[in-house]
Amino acid sequence: MTTTLETAVRPVIPHDIARIVISPKSYTNDDVIYPALAWLRENMPLGVAEVEGYDPIWIVTKHADIRSVEVNAKLFHNADHNPILNDRASDEFMRQINGGSLRLISSLTYMDPPEHAAYRSLTASWFMPNRVSKLEDQIRVLARQSVEKLLSFEGECDFVRDFALFYPLRVIMGLFGVPPEDEPRMLKLTQEFFGVHDPEEQRPEMVADPVAAAKMWAATLEEFYEYFDALSAQRRANPTDDLLSLIANSQVNGATIPRNEANGYYVAIATAGHDTTSSSTAGGLHGLLLYPENIAKLQADPSLIKGLVDEAIRWTSPVKHFMRNATEDTQLRGQTIRAMDRLMMCYPSGNRDEEVFAEAARFDITRSPNPHIAFGFGPHMCLGQHLAKLEMRVLFEELLPHLSSIELAGEPRFVETNFVGGYKSLPIRIKRR
Ligand code: HEM
Repeated sequence: MTTTLETAVRPVIPHDIARIVISPKSYTNDDVIYPALAWLRENMPLGVAEVEGYDPIWIVTKHADIRSVEVNAKLFHNADHNPILNDRASDEFMRQINGGSLRLISSLTYMDPPEHAAYRSLTASWFMPNRVSKLEDQIRVLARQSVEKLLSFEGECDFVRDFALFYPLRVIMGLFGVPPEDEPRMLKLTQEFFGVHDPEEQRPEMVADPVAAAKMWAATLEEFYEYFDALSAQRRANPTDDLLSLIANSQVNGATIPRNEANGYYVAIATAGHDTTSSSTAGGLHGLLLYPENIAKLQADPSLIKGLVDEAIRWTSPVKHFMRNATEDTQLRGQTIRAMDRLMMCYPSGNRDEEVFAEAARFDITRSPNPHIAFGFGPHMCLGQHLAKLEMRVLFEELLPHLSSIELAGEPRFVETNFVGGYKSLPIRIKRR
């Protein structure tokens, strides 16, 4: 598809910077991605990236611009094009296997008004703070078990691989209604779903193929759908009080939720619900290890943990982007955006915007206010944000009092992705109290 961007007058981002922002590899190294985003905020806060193989896209780096695009869901749609940035070949492959459409999954992310509100309302009250706070005791039990396992290492371990990956997975799968024996399968599928550009996360048969990412995505989705079809049928026959039963038995426009939309919902919750949270948890610990004076402060005053959680999520920004497309010609930061132009919302950049956050690169658990946009903004703002924050708070409340000492035992490693990712490994040395 050609966009009007190709003929409009617009500020074109220097090629090396544009490649950095788009390339999945850049997100494995803070010293590469953050200087590029800082350059853009300073010199070209809203510019066009023209990178071979990709549609030309607007790169939105300022906190205020990301918020004003996201809040206006009628003017800026998620899903007339792909809400996730792919190269043209991958999008073309998606269209071929999906009857000409890029809507490969009927989840909230691929919906616009009014459809989006109809589906979001099915679970919105389940995810509200007053409902989620009732889960605290249940979540605390899982946090205690996980912390006990971590402390049992008494020496060196990998905070991500031995710990952070599993706790949010257990929480969300338990609430959702996926049996514990299926958790490893959910973890593997999620890592494939989000890690399409990371060679270590790819299905081996896909690595050499030019549309590898698209093929792998389709194969992973198919496996998810097969799995959830069976669970959905079970919950319709015998409803329980889990989230899967709520979705399986919900009605939209007077009829039972259709198969694609039900499966889209399940996959969104099963995937978005843990990778993001485990990465933010690892980021929180990494921040504490880099600024260790905070550990004693938190141990002395656990009420500071709420600030730690918000700062961990801002500082880590595990979701690197979502796309929007303009539905009509409009103005933003003095630039003319044309109908069907595409915009990449760079959340890690908005969260380091010096106009909003003093010493933005610093991990500061007392930062207040902390109006980060790691959960997005507007009608699509993360459905699971209150659950994610509760999980993280409870975890740090259970972990910190037991730490006698903790230090980095090696360099952290990050997932190669420009979409959802973060920590792949965080080696630590730990001693319990
Ligand atoms: C959407 C971030 C945890 C479920 C999103 C979006 C972001 C995000 C950036 C897109 C927002 C937008 O387009 O404006 C995060 C982060 C998390 C987290 C940083 C953890 C720290 C969770 C959890 C769940 C969840 C725990 C579920 C249990 C969803 C869903 C959507 C979403 C269903 C789609 C919402 C919509 O389009 O209406 N999240 N998320 N997320 N998230 Fe999260």
